[in-house]
Amino acid sequence: MSPTPNIVRSAAAAPNIVRSAAVDPQPPAHGIRPRTGTQLDPDDRDWWRQAVVYQVYPRSFADSNGDGVGDLGGIIAKLGHLELLGVDAVWLSPVMRSPMADHGYDVSDPRAIDPLFGDLAALDRLVAEAHARDIRVAMDLVPNHTSIEHPWFTAALSARPGSAERSRYHFHDGRGADGSQPPNNWVSVFGGPAWTRITEPDGTPGQWYLHLFAPEQPDLDFDNPEVVADLEETLRFWLDRGVDGFRIDVAHGLAKAPGLPDMDLAVAQVLRHTDDDPRFNNAGVHAIHRRIRAIVDEYPGAFTVGEVWVDDNSQFAAYLRPDELHLGFNFRLAMAAFTVDEIRSAIENSLAAVAAVGAPPTWALSNHDVFREVTRYAPDDSPAGVATGTDRARAMLLVELALPGTAFLYNGAELGLPNVELPDEVLADPVWERSGHTARGRDGARVPLPWEGDIAPFGFSTNPKTWLPMPANWAGLTVERQLEDVYSTLSLYRRAIELRYHRAEFRGDEIDWYGAPAGCLAFRRSTGNLVCALNTGSTPVSLPPGEVLLTSKPLVDGRLPGNAAVWLVSGH
Ligand code: GLC
Repeated sequence: MSPTPNIVRSAAAAPNIVRSAAVDPQPPAHGIRPRTGTQLDPDDRDWWRQAVVYQVYPRSFADSNGDGVGDLGGIIAKLGHLELLGVDAVWLSPVMRSPMADHGYDVSDPRAIDPLFGDLAALDRLVAEAHARDIRVAMDLVPNHTSIEHPWFTAALSARPGSAERSRYHFHDGRGADGSQPPNNWVSVFGGPAWTRITEPDGTPGQWYLHLFAPEQPDLDFDNPEVVADLEETLRFWLDRGVDGFRIDVAHGLAKAPGLPDMDLAVAQVLRHTDDDPRFNNAGVHAIHRRIRAIVDEYPGAFTVGEVWVDDNSQFAAYLRPDELHLGFNFRLAMAAFTVDEIRSAIENSLAAVAAVGAPPTWALSNHDVFREVTRYAPDDSPAGVATGTDRARAMLLVELALPGTAFLYNGAELGLPNVELPDEVLADPVWERSGHTARGRDGARVPLPWEGDIAPFGFSTNPKTWLPMPANWAGLTVERQLEDVYSTLSLYRRAIELRYHRAEFRGDEIDWYGAPAGCLAFRRSTGNLVCALNTGSTPVSLPPGEVLLTSKPLVDGRLPGNAAVWLVSGH
């Protein structure tokens, strides 16, 4: 079973930019249109193999225009923070035009910026200013589905069954004499049916369309060459502006099983699916990734990272063959409990999954779809429990950054932010409504970041009413406060990223495990001799031999305390 991200809600409609829906099936050969930007370092084609990538959730990072929602101007204003942190790249959750039914993961124009976040000029400025600081910029691409406000979908609604307009999506007649039953038994990842019936232009009950996620997110049909051509145009659109790559949403879901066979409802769970679920992980997906790769390869230094919820190691590896995705998110570490067995198994499996194809492993402790690690590791939500969660999150940062491959950090993790328990009336994640108020959704991990000062909104915005309310007690967690404190989580992040970047000990694609006392694990980078030891227990343990580079918590009489990790240089 792979946990699949949550989701959905509906929101106010945003106006569309209406483009011609007709796309030249043979787009002009690349090179004849003028480029306005270039990737940060076209000579460095492999930087993504060992990078630190910071995920910005734009609504929650920084607000520059006082509407209480983060935006591109806010990100530009805070680039100094990212430079100080030392990250190689940022990945922006979607900023394309969207009615925001799923906070940007429902795109109505993939080649425009939503006015909530700014405009193309602001994006160009962000890319230029990030590049000037040696930081690459990756966009979030949502190819699996569009918004219901995408001109293609509105055209499909007013066209006939069987028309070219409908063939860009999965429109089918219903089952039963009157077509009142959905075309198959698929359920949405967010619960409820994966099909919605439309009313035909003449007012009669009509066909059904497929949406693996919310009804506001109709799935595209990648068997239609126009859909592929449009994606290629979108890739070039952003790459030509100098963007350095893409995070690809639902990368394992772009192709559906031929004939759309029924799924096994006995194993179906909300937010979860198996590798052989006909909704996901179908063989046809690989041809799409090869098309994407061919275009991205025209832009030296650009990369892709796919959201691939596939458990089986060899099937996962197939997405990372040299002509497909550069990187695939491996969510095992983000799902592992704070136990030696789970952490070690997550690491071993993640390394094994990529070894066969020579792709680097990826690591993440959290993202916008899951609980923040401080809360995930906290034994309970008392202040003492959260303090333990913070210790464990700091320790796991050292584990993550000691591993070979590419590390993804979710904004706010560097401040040790916990999930926030929000009151019912402010919940904005569609999961809350769609689950009949049984699942609270992902808002708790999306509360805006605290930057400075003693009262909310802590410099996030000039507007006291932020899109999600900020806890009154976050004054001690602001960037300003943590910069002054050498023991803060922010200081630990800065030091750890700096060491990882500069020290030769962080070399080598493999790790060797050390024997370690119960409740502990220790491994060494095969070439560079960096040793990382983690103590998940509660009593201090002796350190492996070597010079201490960094600890997540002060040593106790030269020993590593519980819920802590250390980096050492072993000397041989
Ligand atoms: C991905 C995103 C998630 C979104 C879903 C539908 O899983 O990470 O936030 O809701 O796709 O686009």
